[in-house]
Amino acid sequence: MTKINFVFLIAVTIFLCCLYACKEDDGLSVQECTPQPSFTTFVEGKQQRVGDVDAGRNFLLYGDYVSSGVPYDVYLAVFGPDNENILERTGDNAVVRYDFSAVDAPNGARVIAPNCLQCHASTINGEFVMGLGNAGADFTADQSGQLPLVDAVIFGQYGDGSPEWEAYQPFRLATAATAPYLVADVRGANPADKLAAVLSAHRDANTLVWNETPAYEIPQELIPTDVPPWWVLKKKNAMFYSALGNGDFCRFLMGSSLLTMANDSTAQQLDDKFPDLLAYLYTLEPPVYPENINNTIAEEGKAIFAENCQECHGTYGTEASFPNLLVDLQRIGTDPLLVEGYQGTHYEYMVNWFNNGWFGQDPNGGQLVARNGYLAQPLDGIWASAPYLHNGSVPTLEDLLNSSQRPTYWKRSFNTSDIDFEKVGWNYTVETSKVDSDTYDTTKEGYGNQGHYFGDNLSSTERSALIEYLKTL
Ligand code: HEC
Ligand code: HEC
Repeated sequence: MTKINFVFLIAVTIFLCCLYACKEDDGLSVQECTPQPSFTTFVEGKQQRVGDVDAGRNFLLYGDYVSSGVPYDVYLAVFGPDNENILERTGDNAVVRYDFSAVDAPNGARVIAPNCLQCHASTINGEFVMGLGNAGADFTADQSGQLPLVDAVIFGQYGDGSPEWEAYQPFRLATAATAPYLVADVRGANPADKLAAVLSAHRDANTLVWNETPAYEIPQELIPTDVPPWWVLKKKNAMFYSALGNGDFCRFLMGSSLLTMANDSTAQQLDDKFPDLLAYLYTLEPPVYPENINNTIAEEGKAIFAENCQECHGTYGTEASFPNLLVDLQRIGTDPLLVEGYQGTHYEYMVNWFNNGWFGQDPNGGQLVARNGYLAQPLDGIWASAPYLHNGSVPTLEDLLNSSQRPTYWKRSFNTSDIDFEKVGWNYTVETSKVDSDTYDTTKEGYGNQGHYFGDNLSSTERSALIEYLKTL
């Protein structure tokens, strides 16, 4: 009895102290209550498995993490050789476009499979940048409509029972099952979370074997995201916008292999390769801002950043630090659908599937942890990674930092040299309603451009100085 009262007393004291110290109007700074800003939570990190950098780059560009696709010869006949060879790949990959790889399927047939660079590489201002999110990928149509044609070509050339037809099957099944759910409202919006969710519904959580019938009725609605750049990963304690990916990062990188992997023993073999890939991702650096920067103004901007932004986004340059703070939805106020999707029924099946099956239960397991907010992202190379916020709803930094200026309906050209160097981001036109699949409609659920009002009280001179500083990151 006395023990309970004692604990209770301490709890009440701590509660009252915090309540008192955190009140903004009592003159005490938030720091005196807790070392971090209010409505934020420090996201804890874990030791990562990090392998060999060169082996990782090699695996990324030549590896069989996706091991099914169309026959090599069919690909070349349809698309012709790619003579750019931007990645300087050798062998039969030298003539394959950068976002596909020629790999051996498990039965030995040579196939062309999509690789990570479908979403994680792009050009900006004429320069190819490894790890820059592909902000122009078009997922606005259900791609499964094209399958009958591809089927006919492969079947016609090689026939039933051929190794080529067999090697194509996992890719075909996965595409047919997922494509109807991957339909975004606007070009650039990425459906990767949903892709993983649909694939998990079709695979046994432990054996990872494909089931043609999904385990539950998958909601049709898509929760869109913008692809984050790879070079920020090294600073982050948890992966993804809502700091969902906890524990072993390699397990999340492996998610892409769910597209075509045969079973848990294939997964086990692949698992040894991903630490190399992670090591390579950790070496990537952002592209340097290509235009002139006014250093005097940028210096003024740095002070404004220190006062208004640093508590969440950290410091840059020689004494770089990153706080890894998750900001509660009620403070950040940006579109809640992605966070709610993981907290609620939308992604509930996938979270349990992942945590309690092969991906989560192994000694190297990762865990998906649904949290109530978004991680304040590192801002390295931020000039290059427009559009902004987790759903890509804001076209420029100036609009992000002045919410009254954010367009409700806007359209960009999707030409990656069509950059606004003043507002920093994409040139765009404002529309009065949704015209076509290139119009970003921020009134649509999940596509909202609200929240993150931290730049609103700055004067326009202060805001431009701040933007000048952001160019240097
Ligand atoms: C279909 C597009 C697509 C493909 C293919 C893809 N990704 Fe991603 N990736 C995304 C999107 C979108 C996100 C952000 C998801 C989120 O946070 O909700 C992401 C997130 C990530 C992150 C986390 C970044 C961060 O800062 O939190 C890493 C790392 C990553 N992907 C690596 C890979 C690797 C490695 C591959 C290939 C094995 C791959 N991805 C394939 C779209 C893709
Ligand atoms: C209370 C914490 C907090 C403060 C203060 C803050 N931010 Fe943020 N910022 C965030 C969070 C959280 C996100 C991610 C929100 C989302 O994607 O929905 C974000 C996103 C951003 C992004 C978009 C990143 C991307 O990859 O799309 C930029 C740019 C940015 N902030 C700049 C700033 C600047 C400049 C300031 C100072 C005026 C500032 N922030 C102040 C928490 C904060």
